[in-house]
Amino acid sequence: MSYSLQVAGRSRIVVGPALAELPQLLPAGRIEMLTDRNVLHLHPELFAGRHPLVIEPGEENKRLQSVETVCRELIRRGADRSTFLLGIGGGIVTDITGFVASIYMRGIPFGYISTTLLGNVDASVGGKNGVDLDGYKNMIGVFAQPQFVICDTSLFSTLPVREVRAGLAEAVKSGIIGDEELFALIERTGFEGLRHTAAAMDEVVVRSVRLKAAIVSRDEREQGERRKLNLGHTFAHAIEKCSREMNHGEAVAVGLVMAARLARRLGLLPSAAEDRIAGLIEALGFTTQPPVPTAELFDAMTKDKKSEGDTIHLVLPTAVGDCVIRTVSFTELAPLLRSL
Ligand code: GLY
Repeated sequence: MSYSLQVAGRSRIVVGPALAELPQLLPAGRIEMLTDRNVLHLHPELFAGRHPLVIEPGEENKRLQSVETVCRELIRRGADRSTFLLGIGGGIVTDITGFVASIYMRGIPFGYISTTLLGNVDASVGGKNGVDLDGYKNMIGVFAQPQFVICDTSLFSTLPVREVRAGLAEAVKSGIIGDEELFALIERTGFEGLRHTAAAMDEVVVRSVRLKAAIVSRDEREQGERRKLNLGHTFAHAIEKCSREMNHGEAVAVGLVMAARLARRLGLLPSAAEDRIAGLIEALGFTTQPPVPTAELFDAMTKDKKSEGDTIHLVLPTAVGDCVIRTVSFTELAPLLRSL
């Protein structure tokens, strides 16, 4: 059974089996595919005898050089304005696909098959595409909606356990932002339960996508409410900037706990809710402490692209299932961070 909805009135998200869904979604005409070496090796069935463009896996390849390489290859293959670019992979592949498609010949149509939990519940949905620069995450990019995203949870079976766990941090984030039932589902099913129960994993993806689609449809360009989707990310991006120890989802997990602690310190979140958030993050097998001192994180946060002058928009939970956006000056933030 497939589940389908629209984002911003023009981007169709389907949760279901990729090979069954793809023929109805792909337009007629020339298709080029972009993937990474791992996905090509693990899922040859998705490429149906075609020769995709292949990038190297890993966050260090989410950079302008990869964008140039892909554009050069599209030119070499004679891709034109009517070519459809299909990205098949995790968040790095889909981000690069969306970015390349937005700038190649000033824009060509594109869509994704999202193969990772992190991609399904966050990265592939909502039209943010881009690359990192000098360690700053997603510093160069565009808003552009894919025509479609297929989220196929059966593809997670080949993911390393660490990657599945990392993706779950983004689903926990969605629960905290606005879906208490999603949070409770993850609590009661647990990590191993979710990994081995397709229906529960599908429900986690559907609920996360539904929440994100609703928010993005109301605020596509992140002028207000969409900032809520950055819950935990200001801390996570700083962690990723300062340390190579954690991947994105692991850093988000720590960021969620830091946001909850901060919200409780500010009197916005009851301590029972803070304990529930930290308890779930821990039960899923994540570390809850940042791998570097908070003073270092603070320095990196001052350079976050979401900072504006000497203030930053912080997303702070007020309950499991609700949060607020607070604009905080760095002068106020420094002692608060030290106290965490
Ligand atoms: N990952 C946050 C957003 O798409 O807005």
